[in-house]
Amino acid sequence: MEHIVVLQCRQLHNAAFPLRSAAQAANLVAGFYFFCYTIAMNTLIIGGAGYIGSHVVREFLDQGHKVTVFDNLSSGLRENLFPEATFIHGSIMDYTALVSACKLGFDAAVHLAASKAAGESMIVPEKYSVNNISGTINILNALCETGIQRLVFSSSAAVYGEPQYLPIDEKHPTIPQNYYGFTKLEIEHIMHWYDKLKGLHFASLRYFNVAGYDIKGRISGLEQNPANLIPIVMEAAIGIRKEMQIYGDDYDTPDGTCIRDYIHVSDLSAAHAAALDYISKNNKSLTINLGTGTGLSVKEIVEAARRVTGKPIPAQVTGRRPGDPAKLAASSKLALELLGWKAQYSDVDKLIKTSWEAYTKAAAKR
Ligand code: UFG
Repeated sequence: MEHIVVLQCRQLHNAAFPLRSAAQAANLVAGFYFFCYTIAMNTLIIGGAGYIGSHVVREFLDQGHKVTVFDNLSSGLRENLFPEATFIHGSIMDYTALVSACKLGFDAAVHLAASKAAGESMIVPEKYSVNNISGTINILNALCETGIQRLVFSSSAAVYGEPQYLPIDEKHPTIPQNYYGFTKLEIEHIMHWYDKLKGLHFASLRYFNVAGYDIKGRISGLEQNPANLIPIVMEAAIGIRKEMQIYGDDYDTPDGTCIRDYIHVSDLSAAHAAALDYISKNNKSLTINLGTGTGLSVKEIVEAARRVTGKPIPAQVTGRRPGDPAKLAASSKLALELLGWKAQYSDVDKLIKTSWEAYTKAAAKR
């Protein structure tokens, strides 16, 4: 990281006033812009072969960061690895392996390696205690032991529980309604203590409903056994499943189905890079929502998918899924204010179109 800063200062110095050409002036402006807005870092992305992780890796590489992926490939895929990134096959449950990886020397880590099915977390909470809480404690300790002082962490809107008002801002009470959300909230509490006691600065990113695929179509590995709405709709469109279920149409919403705040994974990835930049420049931690402020109903998603894919997508309305709030939407004002971040690709057509491209590409390979 220091190397880049020195390089940029030298670039400014080399411009040797007075400027002798327009090209030199342009070079100076470009150098100054880079100095002000981007700090290229050597990063360790834990869980970087997964659905969200691989998109974050792509974004970091695009922004000029150096990336090493650490992943046990339990749900991550080899085809999601990029040749520009170094890969370490390892588990966050293996403390020695984590420390060895961290000793390679990084400016920052991003942690996306977690179990994330809220329903499953109510049936096998022990899996979530181990993977999410113990796994993250291992990461925090390994970072501290090796002097890495920045962490970007995948948190979740699940920390809030049933909404008491909408849109949900970061001051909303945190009363998780499932064990998965509890694990994310516990980790946030632990990170606050590590900040205070060990000087570890973190960015905790509370994701709302993440969907879509890389806007430039560079990620081809599909999530296996997805539990979320949009990939299930895609599976019904492509014929992996015969039909899909709509969990309840008797909610207090305009069409009776649940409303969620869908955020495109490319927008989400850009926010990770911006958050890392923020904690590096400001030397302090950050907790923010990542959403769009508006919502789409289940029926709106299914109808948009029928329109974009041209497929019939058979859907049956069944009973409510336990624990589903009628409506969720995030206030992302804080992300705009602190990071200058705003969703650009999260409209329904891009969410569906980029997903459909990934599913049709994967089907063509089979
Ligand atoms: N749904 C269906 N049919 C399906 C799957 C989902 O009707 O086959 C409905 C759900 O009932 C819900 C909506 O689609 O109303 C969205 O459901 P998802 O399972 O895709 O997402 P959730 O809103 O339940 O949860 C997701 C993440 C959580 C995160 C939350 C934040 O999985 O980790 O978004 O808003 F906390």
